[in-house]
Amino acid sequence: MINTLLIEFLQNRLTEAILKTFEEKISSDDAQADIAQCQQENFGHYQCNSALKLAKILKENPRKVAEQILKNIDPVEDGFELFSKIEIAGPGFINLTLDKDFLSEYLNQKILSDPKLGAKKGDKTKRIIVEFSSPNVAKELHVGHLRSTIIGDSLARLFEFLNYDVLRLNHIGDWGTQFGMLINYLKKYQPKILSKEEKVDLSKLTIWYKEAKRLFDEDENFKNDSRKEVVSLQSGEKTAKNAWNIICDISRKAFKEIYDLLDVKIIERGESFYNDDLLKIVDDLEKKGFIEVSDGAKCVFIEGFKNREGNPLPIMVQKSDGGFNYDTTDIAAFKHRCEIERANRIIIVTDLGQSLHFQMIYPLVVKAKYLDPNKTQFDHVTFGVVLGEDKKKFKTRSGETEKLIDLLNKAVDHAKNILKERLKDEDSKTIEQAAKNLGISAVKYADLSNHRVKDYIFSYDKMLSLEGNTAAFLFYSYVRILSIKRKINPNMEELLKTTKIELEHPSEISLALQLARFAETLHLMSRDLLPNRLTDYLYDLATKFNVFFRDCRVEGTINQNQRLLLCHLTEKVFKAGFYILGLKPLEKM
Ligand code: ARG
Repeated sequence: MINTLLIEFLQNRLTEAILKTFEEKISSDDAQADIAQCQQENFGHYQCNSALKLAKILKENPRKVAEQILKNIDPVEDGFELFSKIEIAGPGFINLTLDKDFLSEYLNQKILSDPKLGAKKGDKTKRIIVEFSSPNVAKELHVGHLRSTIIGDSLARLFEFLNYDVLRLNHIGDWGTQFGMLINYLKKYQPKILSKEEKVDLSKLTIWYKEAKRLFDEDENFKNDSRKEVVSLQSGEKTAKNAWNIICDISRKAFKEIYDLLDVKIIERGESFYNDDLLKIVDDLEKKGFIEVSDGAKCVFIEGFKNREGNPLPIMVQKSDGGFNYDTTDIAAFKHRCEIERANRIIIVTDLGQSLHFQMIYPLVVKAKYLDPNKTQFDHVTFGVVLGEDKKKFKTRSGETEKLIDLLNKAVDHAKNILKERLKDEDSKTIEQAAKNLGISAVKYADLSNHRVKDYIFSYDKMLSLEGNTAAFLFYSYVRILSIKRKINPNMEELLKTTKIELEHPSEISLALQLARFAETLHLMSRDLLPNRLTDYLYDLATKFNVFFRDCRVEGTINQNQRLLLCHLTEKVFKAGFYILGLKPLEKM
């Protein structure tokens, strides 16, 4: 049986046919078959688009080219006929329909018993760093951080599922001159916080932070004292450092509450982690001759980046007062991640607004030889903004940007209202848990199912709808499988040993093909880092399962056992998909 993704197998098979047909007339590059999934299943399962391109090279009619290729396709694999139909369509597409017996055998041998469901397993020694969430200390997380958290977590989960060595990093904003103001403020107005006689939460701290900022701008004395605190903090002076630790702890507690609710694991490695590297990096950049001093600040200019006036845009690595900033820290982070963590791939998830920042930092770290593009791939994964139902930037009624924890809890409340009806016979604890799972999953799914670069509209009603591309709809299909299994109550282990999938009905074949393509979907998602590839896939899977369930009776038919295997496999694929998206399905609905 074949050992690659279906699409890759067909690509090889068609490439062989093209080479055999036109051997000396074309280069081996041109012979690489271009295979895609067919958009419409009644035309075929896969299509080969190569004849059109080859026709231009060979100066022949594309349909004639397709006919010649067709004659040379080896139609047998492992004793199985590969295709039930091969057709030339339109200007010269070759449409391939897989044979049901081949597809059955492929599922039986390659997917059914594989915990990874046919996915291409990654190399355990390859390290992938996924940096996501990254909120700022003394500030609340906002919906932008929510998107980063949800998208980043699902990418990390994907690579974990595929066996890679994944490091999840939270690059929190825990350093900078702003802490001088806050420490100064707490010392003067809230000493009991610093002596730990009183406790406070992040909401209060953010109010004080705003107050401190106001004083800093208005009061010369306050400003001077704040600056002194910055110097104390940077030199590691004890009281300042202690105050900073308290501020970070308060923030950390609030962040943790959200990560726990979302069930997101992440290692904190904030900006402060790189403090000791910054001076060395500026020295090194200076030695390499990259630094230009502009208005007393040390800057690096990267070719091609200009401001609105058309003047070269600098990366400022050291301010005129000697301080470092966001840019310097990111350079240090890249260096550390390549040299110490030995990352093979670095993925950073932030809003689109940071694109220019990374477009400039990346060539600099390459030029400074901190990152070798042959060893480490870098992806800046960006996303658009969350909009309210009024299509304006998401806000609560009071006009403040919605607090994340409130937003998540509201989703859980909405889910509870829906489930109270549906789960009438369950106890309140079960409903509570189910509401939490559905509410949080709905928020995550709504985010992930939108193409991440686009803005999307946040709507509780839409995300919790049982119809359409929602977590609730998928869970509903999933729950259907569980209830068939509950009803028939088969010994699954035994069944897996004694029964095989034997596809017959068109709705079975259509479901089976979808199941076989899970691996292809993950492969695509690992390349372009678009979670909506997987949500679209699961939505199609649910739809195809529902059609199968409508057309093909399971219980009490001669097909019961082999259809149960299809149900079982669908359940497994759903589970794996939900896991990667960070969703927690319900058992009943
Ligand atoms: N803390 C930043 C913010 O809230 C995001 C950090 C993104 N990551 C990075 N390596 N710069 O906007």
